[in-house]
Amino acid sequence: MMYPEVRLRRLRQSQRMRDLVCETRVSKDELMLPMFFDANIGETKYTDSMPGVPTHPLSGYDAIASGIQDSGVGSVLVFGVPSHKDPTGTGAYEEHGVVQKAIEGLKENSDLLVAADLCLCEYTDHGHCGVLTEDGEVLNDETLDLYARTAVSQAQAGADMIAPSGMMDGEVAAIRQALDDAGFKNVPIMGYSAKFQSAFYGPFRDIADSAPGKGDRAGYQMAWGNAREAMREIEFDIAEGADIIMVKPALPYLDIIRMARDRYDMPIAAYQVSGEYAMIKAAAANGWIDEQRIMRESITAIKRAGADIIITYFAEDMARML
Ligand code: PBG
Ligand code: ZN
Repeated sequence: MMYPEVRLRRLRQSQRMRDLVCETRVSKDELMLPMFFDANIGETKYTDSMPGVPTHPLSGYDAIASGIQDSGVGSVLVFGVPSHKDPTGTGAYEEHGVVQKAIEGLKENSDLLVAADLCLCEYTDHGHCGVLTEDGEVLNDETLDLYARTAVSQAQAGADMIAPSGMMDGEVAAIRQALDDAGFKNVPIMGYSAKFQSAFYGPFRDIADSAPGKGDRAGYQMAWGNAREAMREIEFDIAEGADIIMVKPALPYLDIIRMARDRYDMPIAAYQVSGEYAMIKAAAANGWIDEQRIMRESITAIKRAGADIIITYFAEDMARML
């Protein structure tokens, strides 16, 4: 049966009818908010390229957390900007480092689920995600030892989940082993499994001052066009013990999310990154697009593609709309 017997518009007649046949609904529970803490500031700071995204000082956790929880968002992903940067990113794994303090502060003052991003690029003076040779090459295996130390220090601070984002080979296995050895068998790992070498990370690097001084991340993050390689990255993370896999960025890589959804029975996270957010904010500020509707449409599309968890700077705004 076809038109004119069948009319697809019958089910689009009213809001109630449309709600009844709605296929994709976003819920607050699946939103995760990225958060920044800076050891160098005494008051909340804002970054031009990320309108509305605060960088917090290491204080006032109670107010920060209740603002988030009031919106209905229950989980956060924490990043830190350290007081000092050096070649080996010491600030990432020192006992009272910025992110360790932030995790402790949030856990002591809220019921939030606190995931910790694990990388060295915010902590190295050269801005790369691992340690370098004299020629500026990023060393894989030497970097893994530092990731392992960082993971344990984050778990000790109370992190509910560790999220390695450095794209070193073997990072999930190294972190799993280190966590288990240190008695953190129940701390899950959310791997940034398929992380592309994206220009959409630009505004994030303004916040974290983490752009590589020399070169780029093409030697470890993935090339834009590679979908099959993304599946291999995900397979490796699953084999190494990841509990959740991630695709990042989100909207330009919906096909990758869908491929992963069809192949793997794993919880899948998708990260709507800083550039995706900044583009929407900038166009909306010019009056060129409807921010609220584009926010909802893009997040719904990410969900429809197959994401279970959506990491987004819009998390609070989105949750308030739901
Ligand atoms: C650290 C990291 C980055 C992002 C998340 N973790 C930056 C990068 O890889 O340069 C980007 C997040 C965003 O753009 O919102 N490796
Ligand atoms: Zn990094």
